[in-house]
Amino acid sequence: MSSRLQDEYIKKESMYGAQNYSPLSVVLSRGEGVYLWDVDGNKYLDMVSAYSAVSHGHSHPELIKTIKDQSEKLAITSRAFYTEPYADFLELLTKLSGFESVLTMNTGAEAVETAIKAARRWGYFSKGISKDKAEIIVADGNFHGRTTTIVGFSSEESYKKGFGPFANGFVTAKFCWSGCNLTESIKSFANKINKNTCAILVEPIQGEAGIRVPDKGWLKELRKLCDKENILLILDEIQSGLGRTGKLFAFQHEDIIPDGLILGKALGGAMMPISAFLSSKEIMNHFNSGSHGSTFGGNPLASKIATRALQLLYQDFLIENSNNLGSYFKESLQAIDNKIIKEVRGMGLWIGMELNESKINAKDLCLLLLNEGLLCKETHKTVIRFAPPLMITKNEIDWAIKKITKVISSIE
Ligand SMILES: Cc1ncc(COP(=O)(O)O)c(C=O)c1O
Repeated sequence: MSSRLQDEYIKKESMYGAQNYSPLSVVLSRGEGVYLWDVDGNKYLDMVSAYSAVSHGHSHPELIKTIKDQSEKLAITSRAFYTEPYADFLELLTKLSGFESVLTMNTGAEAVETAIKAARRWGYFSKGISKDKAEIIVADGNFHGRTTTIVGFSSEESYKKGFGPFANGFVTAKFCWSGCNLTESIKSFANKINKNTCAILVEPIQGEAGIRVPDKGWLKELRKLCDKENILLILDEIQSGLGRTGKLFAFQHEDIIPDGLILGKALGGAMMPISAFLSSKEIMNHFNSGSHGSTFGGNPLASKIATRALQLLYQDFLIENSNNLGSYFKESLQAIDNKIIKEVRGMGLWIGMELNESKINAKDLCLLLLNEGLLCKETHKTVIRFAPPLMITKNEIDWAIKKITKVISSIE
């Protein structure tokens, strides 16, 4: 919904900012619950949720109060000192997750780097892998962030072009989704294992790749393989965790427990960046003083917000809502009978709609939805993600479905 005011901001951002994103042409100024408003006062329903970071809704009043109270008291200390909010946060997160120990960072990529370091130290000091030989197996189509180490093991050329040289120690196996041969995928992981393998690192559902849900049993088979070969299973639940798939963690759908878990995004209650690596003490205790850290990691402000955000997952029934309304939303989208749609897939309130490329590309469809007051984002050329805040209501979903149906039928 272009206007002179919006054009001005878009021009300014383009003139002075790096062009490492291609945002939809709308300039936002306010958010409340599932809604966002642009600088001209137009209202939109948010189906992006900052790539699944806004599970609690925009400007949650309890989280605003928390950020206000805590920032007036104590915001940043570094971990040169102990603080009450950090200790309380660690206690709650370990209780809720069942993991013994937590190491807190800020962004998702930093928590993935932490997991890599933890896996390597465990490999050298617990498993006895020779110095500098440790290997981690990842899945094709992965997305774990944007550091040079992480993009180095991405299979997406655009993420890595011109950024080499990359770190050694990563090998890629075959992810399993959409009718894949599960045995073949597990075999592909098994074939990459050698005496230097310390971990398998995967997303339980690949978000950035287009909400690719693995075939049932895949994680369970990976767990068995890791147990058999004495290697760690580390899950990146930065996007899938904290209720997004309808359970606290996506691994709970498969009834397994990983050795390491990576969280981020929604942990900060849509207020602050905070991420974490969780594991047993046996793994975590390989970090000693001076071996890893972050100036802002575990700061009292983010810790207090994350503590409140974890409590609100239950107080606001966000996990149940994601489970119940996620199924309803997915089934309603699957019921839209139109050749433009190739497949609708997902879990909880995290749904990917794959389009027939010959009909329309995903970015153009997002632009049409924007004109109807629905903010959506494509991933790659053919998939639109629907990931609303987890406090969305059935009425709001019905409204969105009406708009999506209207836009899609207008194309045919
Ligand atoms: C699965 C996964 N891992 C890691 C990241 C990186 O997180 P951040 O952008 O906070 O570094 C993302 C972000 O989209 C993600 O989806």
